Amino acid sequence: MDRELALEIVRVTEAAALASSQWMGRGLKNEADDAATTAMRSMFDSVNMQGTVVIGEGELDEAPMLYIGEELGTGSGPEVDIAVDPLEGTNIVAKGHHNAMAVIAVGDKGTLLHAPDMYMEKIAVGPEAAGLVRLTDPIEKTIDIVAKMTNKRVRDVTVIIQERKRHEELVERIRKKGARVKLFGDGDVGASIATVMPRTGIDLFVGTGGAPEGVISAAAIKALGGDMQARLVPMNDEEADRCRKMGITDLSEVLQLDDLVKGDDAIFAATGVSSGELLEGVRFLGGDLVETDSIVMRAKTGTIRYIKTHHRLERKPHLAMPEDQ
Ligand code: FBP
Repeated sequence: MDRELALEIVRVTEAAALASSQWMGRGLKNEADDAATTAMRSMFDSVNMQGTVVIGEGELDEAPMLYIGEELGTGSGPEVDIAVDPLEGTNIVAKGHHNAMAVIAVGDKGTLLHAPDMYMEKIAVGPEAAGLVRLTDPIEKTIDIVAKMTNKRVRDVTVIIQERKRHEELVERIRKKGARVKLFGDGDVGASIATVMPRTGIDLFVGTGGAPEGVISAAAIKALGGDMQARLVPMNDEEADRCRKMGITDLSEVLQLDDLVKGDDAIFAATGVSSGELLEGVRFLGGDLVETDSIVMRAKTGTIRYIKTHHRLERKPHLAMPEDQ
């Protein structure tokens, strides 16, 4: 993949973040998501690549844009796989909460996991415990490993987990073991990546969330030398069937980081919509001036770039809210 592609991909996440941030706090999650998806879709058209969505916003029958199998880009340039989540945290934006982002992962053709938009069980750790934790291990054993490798007491280990009914028993066991639990409402891309970012204080991410979010996070976790394992969780026969149609025969297989993102050439890009652990959100600075913060990383080099951009919304009318046009 060309190095330049990384910066082109940031333009796409910026567009999605700018468009969706205008719906912040309006209680309209579908509108926020549609704005992000439309902006992302149209910006992709100008990127010099032959891209295919391998995991993202659902399949053709249920997602009109950025569906799995959709081809993106100008049709020339590198052949790439794309994993998308135009708005990671639709509820977050609707409620005006923290940690919403527009996120994308790009890999060489055939390198990103091709799977339906469904649930996935995941575990992620930073570089210290990479290669040592297993999705199938009891959580108590995992916490002991993480404590040893990070040189912390168990009581100082912080586990981040999404606040959901399905995680109640897990949370109970983590607390009983003596580790600290950090619950979050939405946005497991940011939460899982927090395990590999320096100085977040987060040591371990566990729980079940979206599969696209899993693949996207895996690109960043790979770039930063952490580790991740995952397993698809079909909720019914239809989802299991969809997996088989996409070539996944063993649904109980524990997917390693290399199964989620093969090889070492993947790009992760994100732009903050509302401020969180990883990024500041979109700031409206007066007049038509708007500032965004993005992060882009390449697994091949491990380089992380933080990009602050000033945008003039009047010159980007396609990203403004309908009533402003
Ligand atoms: P959206 O981008 O669809 O709003 O997802 C937010 C999110 O919290 C993800 O980060 C997470 O993977 C998923 O929802 C969990 O799903 P559910 O809300 O059904 O528990």
